Amino acid sequence: ALPRDLTGLRVVISAGGTREPLDPVRYLTNRSSGKQGYALARVAAQRGAQVTLVSTVTGGPLSDPAGVEVVPASTAEQLRAAVLTAAEQADVVVMAAAVADFRPAEFVDHKIKKTEGSEPQPLELRRNPDILVELVKGRRPGQLVVGFAAETGDPGGDVLDHARAKLARKGCDLLVVNAVGDGKAFEVEHNQGWLLTADGAEAPIPQGSKARFASTVWDAILRLSSSDRL
Ligand code: C5P
Repeated sequence: ALPRDLTGLRVVISAGGTREPLDPVRYLTNRSSGKQGYALARVAAQRGAQVTLVSTVTGGPLSDPAGVEVVPASTAEQLRAAVLTAAEQADVVVMAAAVADFRPAEFVDHKIKKTEGSEPQPLELRRNPDILVELVKGRRPGQLVVGFAAETGDPGGDVLDHARAKLARKGCDLLVVNAVGDGKAFEVEHNQGWLLTADGAEAPIPQGSKARFASTVWDAILRLSSSDRL
């Protein structure tokens, strides 16, 4: 059994890739399965936390983690609204969701037809709000905000350089870095990466199950939240 060392902690976790609709039958999305976010929620609940999981993949293959409040969301805009509301009561917010950076500029309320002989139309996109940055700007005193970074590239070199820049740009307390590409991280059962904290500390997370990875992330969050309370 896991230690109940997160008892009393109220946490919000977002999970899954957002879907940005073009019309009633088509959408833009990404390869996030939600598995790492669900593992974070399950492990936090097992360790005693009060957990709200904002998920884009409800009704899919992942079952609701026991004892967790699950709030469905699909688009970035819906995820934003649900996360910001839940964050008002939270000690920790973990943005594990893969939020689409862009959405179609307009939603067409009927199925877009291809007309005979016509050229394909360029797809106009708009930037989605950065929820993580908004959470950091609006955080309550003592609230911890955790971001994720999925980076492709050479683990020794540019992955960590990109991640350090992202941590500084986003302003979160902790950044969980995953190496992606070549079958790593997305849609698979194991994960590996690094933890970067705002004070400049860096630690590798060895290859392991997504549950093991989640426990390592919660250990780091617990250390950060108890040092804040001193
Ligand atoms: O900039 P990038 O998408 O790589 O940043 C990843 C982190 O930012 C993740 O924690 C993700 O949940 C969050 N994010 C967000 N809103 C966006 C894009 C990313 O909260 N529009």
